[in-house]
Amino acid sequence: MPKRPLIRAPRVTKAVFPVAGLGTRFLPATKSIPKEILTLVDRPLIQYAIDEARAAGITDFIFVTARGKSALEDYFDRAPELESALRRAGKRDLLRALAQTDMPSGAIAYVRQNRPLGLGHAVWCARHLVGDEPFAVILPDDVIAAETPCLRQMVEAHAETRGNMVATMEVAPAQVSSYGILDAAPVQGKGRLVQARGMVEKPRPEAAPSTLAVIGRYILEPEVMGLLGRIGRGAGREVQLTDAIARRIAEGGAVWGYRFEGERFDCGSKAGFLRATVAFALARADLRDDLAAYLQTLTRTRLAAE
Ligand code: G1P
Repeated sequence: MPKRPLIRAPRVTKAVFPVAGLGTRFLPATKSIPKEILTLVDRPLIQYAIDEARAAGITDFIFVTARGKSALEDYFDRAPELESALRRAGKRDLLRALAQTDMPSGAIAYVRQNRPLGLGHAVWCARHLVGDEPFAVILPDDVIAAETPCLRQMVEAHAETRGNMVATMEVAPAQVSSYGILDAAPVQGKGRLVQARGMVEKPRPEAAPSTLAVIGRYILEPEVMGLLGRIGRGAGREVQLTDAIARRIAEGGAVWGYRFEGERFDCGSKAGFLRATVAFALARADLRDDLAAYLQTLTRTRLAAE
């Protein structure tokens, strides 16, 4: 049998983090703190996103920022005074905690989105840094707890499929208008993959092609950048990443939905953030027992009151 030539898929080494949003759902907290610095237990949202990217082999991190986001730059910078104070006090565990924020010089690049024209426009702002290679996009609002981090699952699947890939999961029919929704068909023998025939941003429930929602992890071909520069505004009068990917499908490009393994928390909403806080705290050995006992008292009190 003739052997297929072994051509390696290009490695995905760059990830774009759109962090320019105003975070209005968390006002007044986000008046002076970027929402990506809000903490889940004791780590800011952006730390979870960076850790997931690192676990997937990403080495170049591109933040699309805006005014008022300088706390994000400081977070990933060294803090020599703090470090030496901790060293003098022999606080090794705290030094280890701080080490999570260590990024090699030059690993993070910052570009500004100077007008709030939507997610697609934010990603497009990174075009010169992305260049002519596949790249990942991570939306830090979507926190995914998984044994194998979600982007890593996708990078492994992408090495086989190539093309474009979006993370996806089923949502309730009433929720489709909060998401990009896939028109997709399962592919025999491809397990977690579905092949997209179309994609629509925030459809009305009666117009939605399915209940398969796009979650904030993408692996995209550089062609999508070119499309983002041409498509104009869509839903909500914003430039939509979904529209550029849909255009890519129409052009004949492959777009895969990847039904990731893991639990996703919508940390862009207060209820989702609270759920994530409880779930992540219950997963921590140092907090679990105390919190679980407290939650039980709350349930008991409520039952007694009923
Ligand atoms: C964005 C995308 C949407 C996607 C969602 C996932 O919407 O535009 O397609 O389904 O993230 O969280 P946003 O939540 O920013 O309105």
